[in-house]
Amino acid sequence: MAEDQHANVAWNERGTPVSTRFDDPYFSLEDGLAETRHTFLAGNDLPRRFRPGFHVAELGFGTGLNMLATLIAFRAAGAAGPVHFTSFEAYPMAADDMARALAVFPEAAAVAGDFLDVWRRGERRADLGGFIVEVIEGDARETLPRWQSRADAWFLDGFSPAKNPELWGEGLLAEVARHTAPGGTATTYTAAGFVRRGLEAAGFVVERRPGFGRKRHMSVARLEERA
Ligand SMILES: C[S@@+](CC[C@H](N)C(=O)[O-])C[C@H]1O[C@@H](n2cnc3c(N)ncnc32)[C@H](O)[C@@H]1O
Repeated sequence: MAEDQHANVAWNERGTPVSTRFDDPYFSLEDGLAETRHTFLAGNDLPRRFRPGFHVAELGFGTGLNMLATLIAFRAAGAAGPVHFTSFEAYPMAADDMARALAVFPEAAAVAGDFLDVWRRGERRADLGGFIVEVIEGDARETLPRWQSRADAWFLDGFSPAKNPELWGEGLLAEVARHTAPGGTATTYTAAGFVRRGLEAAGFVVERRPGFGRKRHMSVARLEERA
């Protein structure tokens, strides 16, 4: 992979990775794991909705923290698999950087080993005991239109819309909707007007809910079941 396709990471004083390409942290400076649980798990009503074949998809794999939080929830719920977790990532992070980022969250670090071994080998698919992870590399604007599956729950986790607008555009959100099962959901920490309008234009019904920490609002979108 060309050097400029890798993640460019700096570290702040609390050990949070910050993208120098996008000038934005990979997760909340307050508590990344708690933010994931609030925004993406509770927002999508997980783990309650898990059932065999359930598919979670994500825009922006980053450190893998969201994936590991989902794995922890899957295991703790004793949910029946397989559950799929597919993530789209343009600038994959090095395994050592992922491990360093995750070390701040002992719960996540404790379950990360098998996945990091797979990732370090350059493989992008892992079966973590009925929890199947796949990371599709490349710009999501190019890879998602070609994806052959549909997700039941989406984690929309690009960097902030102001800094990473290409991951929040109408065209991509329409592809998210096209790759969502009827009744499926999509959540994001942002309640930016143009993101909510993009989700609505794509066919989602969008609701604002209290955000994590200092964020007043986040967005929960649901694709109505068609008759
Ligand atoms: C906020 S971070 C994701 C954090 C991640 N979910 C985690 O658990 O650590 C945003 C991610 O989106 C990726 N990204 C930015 N633009 C992208 C694009 N056009 N296509 C795919 N991924 C992109 C970045 O490289 C970064 O990893």
